[in-house]
Amino acid sequence: MASIDYSERIPNNVDLSSDRRLQRALEKWQPDFLDWWRSVGPQVLSTNEIYLRTAVSTDAGGWANFGYVRMPEYRWGIFLSDKEKDRVIPAGDDAGKPVWHEVPGEHRNALKRIIVVQADTEPASVEQQRWLANTAPSLYDCRNLFQVNVEEARHLWAMVYLLHAHFGRDGRDEADALLERRSGDPDKPRILDAFNQPCSDWLTFFCFTMFTDRDGKYQLASLAESAFDPLSRSCRFMLTEEAHHLFVGETGLDRVIRRAGELTKLDPNGDARAQGGIDLQTIQKWVNHWFSYCLDLFGAEVSSNAADYFAAGLKGRYREAAKYDDHFARTTTMSIAFPEDGKLVDRDIPLRVAMNEVLRDEYIADCQKSVDRWNRTLEELDLAFRISLPNRRFFRRQGLYADLCFDPQGHPIDEATWQANVDHWLPTADDHAYVESLMQPVYAPGKMANWIAAPRRGINGQALEFEYVRTDC
Ligand SMILES: [Fe+2]
Ligand SMILES: [Fe+2]
Repeated sequence: MASIDYSERIPNNVDLSSDRRLQRALEKWQPDFLDWWRSVGPQVLSTNEIYLRTAVSTDAGGWANFGYVRMPEYRWGIFLSDKEKDRVIPAGDDAGKPVWHEVPGEHRNALKRIIVVQADTEPASVEQQRWLANTAPSLYDCRNLFQVNVEEARHLWAMVYLLHAHFGRDGRDEADALLERRSGDPDKPRILDAFNQPCSDWLTFFCFTMFTDRDGKYQLASLAESAFDPLSRSCRFMLTEEAHHLFVGETGLDRVIRRAGELTKLDPNGDARAQGGIDLQTIQKWVNHWFSYCLDLFGAEVSSNAADYFAAGLKGRYREAAKYDDHFARTTTMSIAFPEDGKLVDRDIPLRVAMNEVLRDEYIADCQKSVDRWNRTLEELDLAFRISLPNRRFFRRQGLYADLCFDPQGHPIDEATWQANVDHWLPTADDHAYVESLMQPVYAPGKMANWIAAPRRGINGQALEFEYVRTDC
């Protein structure tokens, strides 16, 4: 079951050929997908040979398959993790009962919405990143960008398979609509705000893969605990692909921070910009912007939808089965700081309505681990500067803290104080112009742009000088 059949027009491990109607419907969607990829997927070096990994099976070792591929020939397919024998519903009112292999009528709309929202983020990120190869700081980075892109497009396949296989006509219409919305398009935008933000420089790309893909990890992890087993199995396999995206983000930022530190030390006035680098204060502003945007993706702190999804077993907490004993969460509460008359007042609310906040807590703790690793880099360089995550209340557009003013430490402030400081906290037009001025491609094997340090090692044991993208073909 785990091995993937590449002789089929749509590679899969779901025995697609046994369901002719489903196979035909997906084969009809396939050329539209390829048209979408050509028109809004990677626009630079997109037909060159790229050193990519392709899944050959969903086993632990199934990922170790690397080789040169031209992206239009990449074999996108449908891969689910293996069925777990006797799996039971991990969370909610029916915890402990057998999982569902078909969609229960009463949860059809909610499940469809959850899948469509997740699905929409996958093509959106490909669209956001489509010009980045134009300014890749190295062939190593360019290759990583393309690896992320082909896998996000495969995640779209994973969700479209669920829509086609389990939601009939409506599902097919939703699958078509996923190819029609466009990131940043005022008339047909992507569903979530962070996925309509421009991603036109590499500092943004690394923040995106660090913070936005990491949000994806937590959303997928909560869906991996779903009672709807096909969704759980899809998400479990997507999570194995996602790990590389997070690696690209965390290590990418680490390399920019390392280089910023080196250039700060090199410059007689401690000015990394004077040495043609990105300074640490600017990196901190990008972190502030993207971390805050991504906190919004978890939804409101107090949410009846979140409670309903948990009760119904549609979503669980992060590692629900492994981490918790009480899977009903009926009596527990959580303390949340409510803004009231310019002050913060702690109130206990039922845990089920706070499930978005529970997941956000996991995410923040995970981001902090990366920040700690970056700060070890600065410590190694003997610099006093430290990167920090802004407080969860800072610069929010959704939930309890939306449109109120808080400083990066989370203290309520007035509008005038916000206005006086915002240019120190968030990227300005000048910062964007400066970072963009540094974005020049470096396509010579083994060479790096001046504003980023080399990675510690190459991909799949290859040297840094390896030709990760063949630029002469
Ligand atoms: Fe994804
Ligand atoms: Fe991703």
